[in-house]
This record gives sequence, structure tokens and C-alpha cells, in this order.
Amino acid sequence: MSQQSRTPEHVDIHPRNREHEIADCLSRDWYGGHPFKTAWFNAMSITFPLGEKFFIDSVRHFAGEIDDPKLTQEIRGFCGQENVHRREHERYNQSLCKQRGYDLEYMENRLKKKLALSEKMYTPLELLSITAALEHITAIMAEWALDPESTMAQETEATMRELWDWHAVEEMEHKAVAFDVFRAVGGDEKMRKKSLKRATFFLLLDIFVHLVHMLKRNGQLWNMKIWWQGMGFLFGKKGVLRLIYPLWKEYYRDGFHPWDRDTQEQLQRWEDAQTAS
Ligand SMILES: [Fe+2]
Ligand SMILES: [Fe+2]
Repeated sequence: MSQQSRTPEHVDIHPRNREHEIADCLSRDWYGGHPFKTAWFNAMSITFPLGEKFFIDSVRHFAGEIDDPKLTQEIRGFCGQENVHRREHERYNQSLCKQRGYDLEYMENRLKKKLALSEKMYTPLELLSITAALEHITAIMAEWALDPESTMAQETEATMRELWDWHAVEEMEHKAVAFDVFRAVGGDEKMRKKSLKRATFFLLLDIFVHLVHMLKRNGQLWNMKIWWQGMGFLFGKKGVLRLIYPLWKEYYRDGFHPWDRDTQEQLQRWEDAQTAS
């Protein structure tokens, strides 16, 4: 029996079964009253229910090959957390699309086709490496979201922030599970690194397609001011993509591990705020 998990001892990966009453917020531009910023995160939410199912499946496929009981336990926690996220984002997406007239079926069918194609094109190990890469992106986005200086922390309605922060915290807790399973079952550095570009390209493409759909239905697709401000939100001085880029790049370092970056303090700060409220 070998030690395959590198998640710190104090990080307990377990699902918090929460329900968020967000229907009212979803009826409007909950992110700073801005259509682009709101649509960007709503567009991300659309990818979660199917994306997180894909993560669970690709990790579970190898669960029987893991002989570290700590990592086995973490796989259980990971699946539990992603399952609750799926449920909450399914509710989110249904309520959003119903209230704002977006076509959920169109967006999800596109994702379903793409995921089915990937399952045909790639080996289970490649699929797991794509999951590990997407989990890296999710974890660094989560770190950004929890930063009190981020626009997410400063500009969003409190009820929505509770949901995104809760999701962010659990993403950070389980950030190394798919990664450690990938390593444990023989995944190599070359495959790991190659998957990050692939995963990033497809995730950004999906978000972009959903974003365009939403702005189009809002009647704001050709509003250049909204796009210009949106570019600032992504790439400007406090831009989310600009700020996470240095962390994204870290994945290309030889021997990289998600917990090289110790984010336990941020997790603790969130836990403390929960008990205080
Ligand atoms: Fe998740
Ligand atoms: Fe995750």
C-alpha cells in the first residue's frame, strides 16, 4: 500500500448539502448589474451539470485501482461534492433559462454531443487528464472568486456570492483528487500538460457560445459598449482571466502539484465566516 494522496491532512473533503434560493437574483443582472459579467458566469453554470458528471465518471473509472485508503476516501468526497454542485446548478440553470428565455436544451445538447465524441476519441486515461486539467482551471478560478479583492467578491449580490463561494471552497478542497488519481494510475507529465490547452480551449469555447446565446436573447449582442466593458472584466487590470493566467501557467512546471500552492488559509477564512454568521 502506498501513499497516493497529497491533499493536506487537515483538508476534509466532504459534501455540504446546501440549497440556495437564487431564483429572484437570476431574473436580473446579479453581477454588478452588468449583462456581460452576469452572462459570463451564467454561461459557466450551464457547463457544470454535464461537466461535473464527466469529472465524476472519469475519476470513478479508476477508483478500483487505487490502494491508498486516504485517496479512496477523497474520491468518495469528490463525487459527493460534485453531485451536490450538479444538483444546485441544474436548479440554477433551469430557473435562469425559464426566467430569461434562454434555450437550455440547445446549450446542453451541444455539450452532450461534444462529451460523447470525446468519450469515443480519447482513452479513459486521457479523459482523466482532461478532468485534472479542468479541475486546475476550476481551482484557480475558485481562488480568485474567494479573494476579497476580486470583482466577484465586490460586485455580486450576496445570495449569489454564497452559492459561488460555497462551490469555490469545495473546488479548492478537492483540487488534487483527479490529479492524484491520474498520477497513481500511471499518468505521465507529457499527457498531463497536453491536456491543459485542450481543456482550456474547449471550456472557453463553450462559455463563449453560451454567452453569445444569452446576450442575443437579451437583445444586447451588438451592444459594443457591453463587449468593451466585458473585455475589461476579462483582461483588464482586475480582469479575471488576466489574474488567473500566472496560476494557469504553473501547470506546465515539471513536477507540478495543485497543493504546491497552499490555499488552506483561504478555506479556513471561509469556514470561520460561516460559523460567525
Ligand atoms: Fe464542482
Ligand atoms: Fe471539481
